[in-house]
Amino acid sequence: MASLRAALCRRFLQPLSSSFGSSRFASSSFKAADLTVEKSHDPKPKPDPSTLVFGKQFSDHMLTIHWSEKGGWEAPQIKPFQNLSLHPATSALHYSVQLFEGMKAFRGADNHIRLFRPMLNMERMYRSADRCCLPAFDKQELLECIKKLIEVDQEWVPYSSNASLYIRPTYIGMEPSLGVSRSGQALLFVIVGPVGPYFATGTFNPVSLLADPRYVRACRGGVGAYKMGGNYGPTIAIQTEALRQGCQQVLWLYGEDEEITEVGTMNLFIYWTTEKGERELVTPPLDGIILPGVTRQSLLDLAREWGEFKVTERTVVMKEFLEALKAGRVREVFGAGTACVVCPVGSLLYKGQTYQIPTMQNGPELATRFFKELTDIQYGRIKRDWSPVVV
Ligand SMILES: Cc1ncc(COP(=O)(O)O)c(C=O)c1O
Repeated sequence: MASLRAALCRRFLQPLSSSFGSSRFASSSFKAADLTVEKSHDPKPKPDPSTLVFGKQFSDHMLTIHWSEKGGWEAPQIKPFQNLSLHPATSALHYSVQLFEGMKAFRGADNHIRLFRPMLNMERMYRSADRCCLPAFDKQELLECIKKLIEVDQEWVPYSSNASLYIRPTYIGMEPSLGVSRSGQALLFVIVGPVGPYFATGTFNPVSLLADPRYVRACRGGVGAYKMGGNYGPTIAIQTEALRQGCQQVLWLYGEDEEITEVGTMNLFIYWTTEKGERELVTPPLDGIILPGVTRQSLLDLAREWGEFKVTERTVVMKEFLEALKAGRVREVFGAGTACVVCPVGSLLYKGQTYQIPTMQNGPELATRFFKELTDIQYGRIKRDWSPVVV
């Protein structure tokens, strides 16, 4: 089983031998230099950062870039935030020809606005577009357009060291026909809005998880490694089931061995002592079913720089995890993602039994350290090229 898994991992780690067709258009891209800006005459009042609810408030402007097979990319436009007009047969609505990104801009105490490793988001978006058969674009040009949008809406970046501006690049197939085929029309758009702190109290509240092997988030050969809407809609029912059973989020298991994959919409990290007595930070490998998170990459990079404990990307199955838990070797478990940076796990409901994760006994020391280090970089308290200044 292990060798089969290793072979599968190798297969899915290899880059696709050819793209799914989006490269056909790779030579052409929109250019940030062609961007036009139409300012809103009706700016909205900015909400109080302490009242922000994720994803419900949007700024005054949006970026749109249209593409068609006939005309190629049109010039990017920044215009007042407005509804889209879609043909009822639009392929994004019927067949989920759709993908998105999630990133943030932060206002530092020096009043500069910074992004966090934005090229990693552009690269992931490019890969998702290819898998969705949507036309390629120049990643740097898209980033320049996004920077311009943030500049136009800069007053929407909260004046707060624990709130930020959430950025949602979205790319949809606009084919106005019911045939399941490559879209001949597409729209790339970006909307932004202020979001508050994930941990409103300023201290971590460890989450409780439901681990039910009957459900999977993604499967090998599927699209779990891409940020497509179709990966998320079907999880809502399981998330609702977790809430019904008194848990806050879902721990996604996979396969006969019950591989531990992700938690909610976050990558998963386990900090434990191995059977050999070594301290180790372990996270599942990028084997096709895991989303390659920007936060995941950043925690791995930081931990490897620190060099204080072993850092490993490998599969962990439930049996191994529960044995380590019983033996008292698990120190901390946490999720990692743009929304919260890190989110400690406090307990796990699995096959009718609740297991306590000892995070709170020692305090989530490593999660706290990661949180401080990353937020210091994001808000410019630690200067690093991960955090380029936009404004
Ligand atoms: C399924 C899933 N895993 C992991 C992550 C974390 O990725 P990132 O750190 O890039 O936000 C996200 C959020 O984007 C996600 O949706």
